[in-house]
Amino acid sequence: MVRSLAPAALLAAASLLTSPAFASAPTCGPNNPCPADSPCCSQYGQCGVGAYCLGGCDPIFSHSLDSCVPEPVCDASKFKIDNLNGVTDIAKYLGDASTANWVSSGSPLEYNGGVLLTLSQGSVGTLLASTHYVWYGKISAKLRTSQGAGVVTAFILMSDVKDEIDFEFIGTTLNQAQSNYYWQGILDYNNGGKHDTSNTFDNEHEYTIDWQPDQLTWSIDGNVVRTLKKSDTWNATSGAFAYPQTPSRVQLSLWPAGLASNGKGTIEWAGGLINWSAGSPAMQNGYYYASVSSVDVECYDPPSGANKTGSKSYSYESMAGTNASIAITDNSVILGSLQGTGEDPDKGKAKASGTGSSPSTSATSQPESVPGVSGGGNSDPNASGSSDQNGSATGNSSNGGSGGSGSSGSGFTQGGGASGSGNNSGAAVARPEGIVGGSVFALVACVVAMLAL
Ligand SMILES: *[C@@H]1O[C@H](CO)[C@@H](O)[C@H](O)[C@H]1NC(C)=O
Ligand SMILES: *[C@@H]1O[C@H](CO)[C@@H](O)[C@H](O)[C@H]1NC(C)=O
Ligand SMILES: *[C@@H]1O[C@H](CO)[C@@H](O)[C@H](O)[C@H]1NC(C)=O
Ligand SMILES: *[C@@H]1O[C@H](CO)[C@@H](O)[C@H](O)[C@H]1NC(C)=O
Ligand SMILES: *[C@@H]1O[C@H](CO)[C@@H](O)[C@H](O)[C@H]1NC(C)=O
Ligand SMILES: *[C@@H]1O[C@H](CO)[C@@H](O)[C@H](O)[C@H]1NC(C)=O
Ligand SMILES: *[C@@H]1O[C@H](CO)[C@@H](O)[C@H](O)[C@H]1NC(C)=O
Ligand SMILES: *[C@@H]1O[C@H](CO)[C@@H](O)[C@H](O)[C@H]1NC(C)=O
Repeated sequence: MVRSLAPAALLAAASLLTSPAFASAPTCGPNNPCPADSPCCSQYGQCGVGAYCLGGCDPIFSHSLDSCVPEPVCDASKFKIDNLNGVTDIAKYLGDASTANWVSSGSPLEYNGGVLLTLSQGSVGTLLASTHYVWYGKISAKLRTSQGAGVVTAFILMSDVKDEIDFEFIGTTLNQAQSNYYWQGILDYNNGGKHDTSNTFDNEHEYTIDWQPDQLTWSIDGNVVRTLKKSDTWNATSGAFAYPQTPSRVQLSLWPAGLASNGKGTIEWAGGLINWSAGSPAMQNGYYYASVSSVDVECYDPPSGANKTGSKSYSYESMAGTNASIAITDNSVILGSLQGTGEDPDKGKAKASGTGSSPSTSATSQPESVPGVSGGGNSDPNASGSSDQNGSATGNSSNGGSGGSGSSGSGFTQGGGASGSGNNSGAAVARPEGIVGGSVFALVACVVAMLAL
């Protein structure tokens, strides 16, 4: 069958990509693969090199099956998160999963033995994505959600072909967790679930996704709240199981669904527009926040019948994008620079080795290199270097937007935050990552929810 991505998903993504840096990036999607010179299709549906070819790179919509680099295999010890030691900014990560457990976009902060995901005005929030993938496993996150209208907390698994398993939390519905799943990014109007629980902001709960080849459960504090059997997802028309079945990254995010620039349905789903007033009790120090105190992963054995010739990475061997497309091999690729791709990993190595900085300061013609962040050009040469993750925690911005002092390191583009309303003169005022993982499909889900009403 022909894989198709719901057009609404692409629209939602495009509407959020307001940064001028993205104007020139080619888009990718069904029947529209990336061109040879920007071969990698990001999870946001745009083409580039460098980090576009790492986590989230869609093998089917990229230039060739070799454009995206192989995905590091599940490694249970690598998912722990109770501080920022294993967290690397996306603009500094070249694919060596032995050096980082998580890549971040936005401003994560170390706090009280855990990690805060922050969302300040003019930003699009914070995303942590695991560098290792899981191909079936039991993933638990202990977290407290954010609160407030328009603010959405998410704990999801997402594969590079957009199989997705979600827990999501709306900041105005604190007595409820939402569950959902997607297969190959295709919209289905009937997959969402709602699960009552005690206040998710006041109370830390443990949310668990137990993902097996034949069955999937969502649990809260050890109690199963939902079960999905693969056998129940059979679609006779397409002759396929619409069941999440490809290696996935673990993602934790906090993102602003309630921005005026978003669709009406999105805003309503999220409980309304975000209140950026200084006195808003849901904000502290100028930002909304969710806190994660641990993530634990148990890796299950690869399915029997898996094409296994090694033990280091997963890769796609066919365009079907199903469980049967996956091979486990010893191939692993670390890019020489952010100009590298799966096909030409060492490109740009001599120029940019070690710094992780964007390859050029001029070029609008350079391919984009960090999805959602910046292009080949346009990076602020002063934004790189030693800035740490402390900025926002100690800063005290009264009106949002100031949090952090370049905590996200190099490669950031100035200007063009999602809301477009901030004063972008500060190094990290405008979080330029465009959109946060999970949000594309969350947006779709809520648009759909509104249509269904
Ligand atoms: C089953 O697959 C067909 C063909 O791809 C699609 O049109 C239909 O919406 C699918 N049905 C469900 C319930 O997802
Ligand atoms: C926003 O928060 C402030 C401070 O708490 C409050 O006074 C104001 O009424 C809120 N605005 C809305 C629209 O809720
Ligand atoms: C893929 O899924 C099909 C259908 O459920 C199953 O028969 C097959 O064994 C699976 N293969 C792998 C490698 O998981
Ligand atoms: C198994 O994976 C290898 C790559 O390691 C690939 O060359 C081969 O085509 C795959 N076999 C099948 C049946 O998909
Ligand atoms: C970078 O910082 C240096 C020293 O603070 C300053 O002179 C220079 O103007 C800055 N460059 C930019 C592009 O901000
Ligand atoms: C970061 O915060 C810690 C704890 O408050 C502090 O000890 C450390 O000096 C800070 N680092 C910087 C660079 O401000
Ligand atoms: C932040 O600002 C508030 C209000 O001005 C003040 O009460 C608080 O002490 C400040 N916190 C820090 C860490 O400066
Ligand atoms: C942004 O900040 C700069 C430096 O503080 C200031 O000169 C400028 O007027 C501000 N622009 C806006 C639109 O507030």
